[in-house]
Amino acid sequence: MKKILGVMVLFLALPAFAQAPVGNAQAGKAKTSMCEGCHGVPGYRTAYPHVYRVPKIDGQQPVYIVNALQAYKSGARSHPTMQAIAQGQSDQDMADLAAFYSTLNQ
Ligand code: HEC
Repeated sequence: MKKILGVMVLFLALPAFAQAPVGNAQAGKAKTSMCEGCHGVPGYRTAYPHVYRVPKIDGQQPVYIVNALQAYKSGARSHPTMQAIAQGQSDQDMADLAAFYSTLNQ
């Protein structure tokens, strides 16, 4: 029974993967101007508007970055700035940004 369930989940999940846009790191780089002030390229410290902790996104798995952005967009994750930013992004924008940030190694 467990095995059958596992196979079913796989089949249900596959179309979702197939539809996810493929990220282009080059295109993503061009979209980071909005992120740099806080997430910094490279590094992740910010001194504006005051010093506060910004999570490091450089070198994260693309799927981790996309999931986080989708969660801000849907409201599942709340942070006023990140929600506003994610709401202006298409799935392609997120995939491109994720592709770029995942190539950065700290
Ligand atoms: C005004 C500052 C600011 C800007 C601009 C900004 N971010 Fe963020 N970002 C934050 C903060 C603060 C958090 C942590 C919020 C929280 O606690 O959920 C965050 C969280 C994230 C996360 C989740 C990271 C994790 O480990 O959970 C991702 C991914 C992310 N930002 C991507 C981006 C991208 C891509 C851009 C540009 C399109 C961007 N951010 C622009 C401040 C910013």
